[in-house]
Amino acid sequence: MDGGLRAGRVAVAGLGRREAADDDAIRTAAAAATRAARAHGGTLAWLVDDSLPAAAPDQARLAVEGATLAAYDPGQWKTRGPRERPLERLLVVGDGVEGQARRAGIVAEWANRARDLVNTPPNEAPPARFAERAEEIAAGGGRLRAAVLGPPEIEALGMGALAAVGRASRNEPRLVAVHYDPPGPAHPDVVLGFVGKGITFDTGGISLKPGLHMEDMKGDMAGGAAVLEAIGAVAELELPVRVLTVVAAAENMPGGGAYRPGDILTAANGKTIEIVNTDAEGRLVLADALWYARREGATHVVDLATLTGAMVIALGDLYSGFYANDDEWADRLAAAAERSGDHAWRLPLHPRYRRYVDSTFADMKNASDLREAGPALAAEFLREFAGDGPWAHVDIAGPAFLRRSRGDYLTQHGGTGYGVRLLVELAAGYAS
Ligand code: BES
Ligand code: MN
Ligand code: ZN
Repeated sequence: MDGGLRAGRVAVAGLGRREAADDDAIRTAAAAATRAARAHGGTLAWLVDDSLPAAAPDQARLAVEGATLAAYDPGQWKTRGPRERPLERLLVVGDGVEGQARRAGIVAEWANRARDLVNTPPNEAPPARFAERAEEIAAGGGRLRAAVLGPPEIEALGMGALAAVGRASRNEPRLVAVHYDPPGPAHPDVVLGFVGKGITFDTGGISLKPGLHMEDMKGDMAGGAAVLEAIGAVAELELPVRVLTVVAAAENMPGGGAYRPGDILTAANGKTIEIVNTDAEGRLVLADALWYARREGATHVVDLATLTGAMVIALGDLYSGFYANDDEWADRLAAAAERSGDHAWRLPLHPRYRRYVDSTFADMKNASDLREAGPALAAEFLREFAGDGPWAHVDIAGPAFLRRSRGDYLTQHGGTGYGVRLLVELAAGYAS
């Protein structure tokens, strides 16, 4: 500081050891500054540090992401208004940073909208809320179109898996699609299919979950929220990439009409599934959503789902784990994850896991009593419905919803918006 700075207050945000100052360190420092500034409100100006290895525009992108995500308030249902003063403006000072800073702000705000949808309590966000939200998003851009299927259409298309999961709830299931068709796509033959698990509340159904922390199962729609808000971001950025988003939305409840262990369902692709655990509902709704995405023309499919507790045990709150049937698609996904900050690590999809979901009575069963490789068995199950062409399954159960601070730029209980930045980055890879 050469004396030219006129600021009421100066916050010094440390990045730790220079050699260890990675992308997340910059996001985290900006988040810390944002939290400090919240006591005062007004404008936060972030000065890019030219002595760091990261280029100025990259630093700007990272700082804006960290600050925007840290400014998020999950306490919207408190009757006493916010105790802190929200920031009015975020300014990034550096050479050539404007484009990246603006773009990062747009994407992070869409991630915050995904957090809103996830944090909305299940009494206010039933499956029909996904339909409303899709229509709101589609109304915001001329190149967007929403399509919503209710129970009659779901059954008419033979989506017996989605229909069964949603059957016990008074809040009926929805299959929600949004199409984005930009003028002059860079790859006219590519349609990215973003498929999301939208279980608005997961009680486990007849295979009822234990009560402790069951309230966090409002977060079981985080995959659906991410794919929906991501297509909004792609459209606002006007990326010349064709994208299709599909959300399988249902509430998994016990009750007189509930599907049960022992039931055999027929999915839209004609395959039969023996139910052995009604709490393995995510793969069922995804089975029909994956089929629908292919039917609507998706060439490259990625599904995001809070699918297994075992993935949380394996990778915790930082990385998702993903499975893919195509190396190029997997490499693109891993690269987009690393650059976006939505960390994801590839795990092995292998046909020799398939036999653990063999059923005596049907084509497959929806779970196994083997307490091994649960996420891999789920991936092998989903592969049966993923159709032809590149597909990846991202199990986001860990990073999508936090119970406690992660000690970085995400410190709040609840939805993180995981997946929005990842999917936008993945789409951007097809924009030229
Ligand atoms: N939504 C849960 C997975 C989950 C658990 C997400 C904890 C986030 C935190 C999913 O529907 C589920 O219940 N999975 C079962 C699968 C099992 C029955 C094969 C699980 O992980 O126990
Ligand atoms: Mn479940
Ligand atoms: Zn679930």
